[in-house]
Amino acid sequence: RTVYVNGEFLPEDQAKISIFDRAFLMADGVYEVTSVLGGKLIDFSGHLKRLARSLDALEMVNPLSDDEWLSIHRKLVEVNGIDEGLVYLQVTRGAPGDRDFAWPDPATCPPGVVLFTQNKPGLADSPAAKVGMKVISIPDIRWGRRDIKTTQLLYPSMGKMMAKKAGADDAWLVEDGLVTEGTSNNTYIVKGNQIITRQLSTDILHGITRAAVLTFAREAQMEVVERPFTIAEAQQADEAFITSASAFVMPVVEIDGATLGDGKPGRVASRMREIYLDEMR
Ligand code: PDD
Repeated sequence: RTVYVNGEFLPEDQAKISIFDRAFLMADGVYEVTSVLGGKLIDFSGHLKRLARSLDALEMVNPLSDDEWLSIHRKLVEVNGIDEGLVYLQVTRGAPGDRDFAWPDPATCPPGVVLFTQNKPGLADSPAAKVGMKVISIPDIRWGRRDIKTTQLLYPSMGKMMAKKAGADDAWLVEDGLVTEGTSNNTYIVKGNQIITRQLSTDILHGITRAAVLTFAREAQMEVVERPFTIAEAQQADEAFITSASAFVMPVVEIDGATLGDGKPGRVASRMREIYLDEMR
């Protein structure tokens, strides 16, 4: 696989980063994941906007223009022959050459940039979407700026492992009795004609897929209600689902052992997945 590191396209085994890179030492970096369907980048401008926002929130410099980001993405998709898959991009505060809590001066310490692709044939036609996911709930003990897409992913990763150990697929994070989001996705419940999802704030990541799905839901005459919900309310809902750039729309059929409806992916979730894929590819 060919990857991109600090201005160069290289075979992955020749790519190197400094041991002083602050993302490595301090998770001082931000990232984006863009899906690829039929060789095409999905909702790329949304991901670039959020990248700029994350960088801004951490007073980091955006090292490349939108056109440069686009051409690097396109080149990696092309040289790696990605039909369905993902492009991962990461920008770090660079490698100042010593470990120090204070940020280095961006004038002397340029940001670190890493991009690579992941080939995922069958991403859109995922069998998991026909079965649905089982989720468990766990406390949300992450930091308070979850709207910034940082590489600080240890707790989400632990949450995924807790889910696996419990025989589930993912974990929903709960704070003050209310669901914030999934380990790596936004969360929704469906009641009658309403799609209910937590409102945007610093408590959750502002999902790019979320924004598109809510637009399509409104166009399909669904009522979108942006408010938090409890696990108990979710267990009583008609349906539930999650969204992310890598899962698109994925139905949820079980929450903390309680089966939703007949235990099959809901009509609204399946329809929203179909609409999203139709509109975006
Ligand atoms: N995760 N919430 C969290 C905590 C996330 O990590 C993600 C994305 C989302 C969904 O955002 P979007 O629709 O823009 O992908 C919500 C990516 C896919 C990841 O970490 O792999």
